[in-house]
Amino acid sequence: MEEKIAKLVSMAKDEISKVTKEADLLNIKAKYVGKKSEFNTLLSSLKDMSSEDKKIYGPLLNAKKKELEQLFNDKFTSLSSSVDLSFDETLPVNLETGSLHPVTIVAKEITDVLKRMGFTVLKGYEMEDDYHNFEALNIPKDHPARDMQDTYYLDNGLLLRTQTSGDQVHAMEKYEVPLRVCSPGRVFRNEDVDASHENTFFQLEGMVIDKNIKIENMFYVMNELLNEVFHQKVKMRVRPGFFPFTEPSFEMDMCCLICGGKGCSTCHGTGWIELIPGGMVHPNVLRNCGIDPDVYTGFAFGIGLTRLAMMKYKISDIRYLNSGDLRFLEEFEIE
Ligand code: DAH
Repeated sequence: MEEKIAKLVSMAKDEISKVTKEADLLNIKAKYVGKKSEFNTLLSSLKDMSSEDKKIYGPLLNAKKKELEQLFNDKFTSLSSSVDLSFDETLPVNLETGSLHPVTIVAKEITDVLKRMGFTVLKGYEMEDDYHNFEALNIPKDHPARDMQDTYYLDNGLLLRTQTSGDQVHAMEKYEVPLRVCSPGRVFRNEDVDASHENTFFQLEGMVIDKNIKIENMFYVMNELLNEVFHQKVKMRVRPGFFPFTEPSFEMDMCCLICGGKGCSTCHGTGWIELIPGGMVHPNVLRNCGIDPDVYTGFAFGIGLTRLAMMKYKISDIRYLNSGDLRFLEEFEIE
């Protein structure tokens, strides 16, 4: 028994003297004096010993255990106060910086133009209630327009917003008219994912409310935005559209820059990409937000930021954008 104890103590002392890291010291401590340590096995064997042996080995084991514990504590103190020399200060530092996501770049370019035109940039809520996402926008519970925007309903009664249009409502509730606001953000839809559809993508909502606002004001703003983002005169067309929260409603399409208008998988063979829907704010929406439609009019639009980024950078598959693939992301730099 004495030999066993002496051997254990000398092995422990040897390991303590060699260890250089606190984490390793912790492991060694557990091995020698921890709950499942060999020392504890010896201590628990006391109960099977004769009472004479108990009198001899009990105090000896306890004394040696105490001695080791003291050694462990001293070593902890010396390790934590010693300088860590494992860091080589002469190693070269990686000075490579990250790059912005293409959607972030496009959002910044658009909000910069809008800010110059006097728009305030707002931040909406990704988790939204039914009222702001649908009802206040003239889309009641049983309205067929809801079918187009199937979403993810949450256990707390809220939903992941399907559009940034709810931000119009928040803005009208919070601020006085006249109003010029825009709000970029992430939206969600229960979509089958393919080259041009994602369940998570980005939009930018814009809204102007004032006296005498007309639809040509909106076309002017759209034109300025796209020319700025693409640094060229972009070919566009305007079609009538339908949205419950605008009347009249329009779809502004842009000639597909991936195929130059010939037709490809991104534009579903049409040569055009639906980019900016918008229109004159429906009187019901104004009324819902306490604004008198006989005094004020306004326009609103919702830019597909993700689509815009795809057009600008000729990205043929929307799935790259959420992939988190650094090789893809490293290609983009702010201009
Ligand atoms: N929220 C619509 C959508 O996601 C887009 C939209 C259409 C926004 C018309 C508008 C608007 O502000 O006036 O499909």
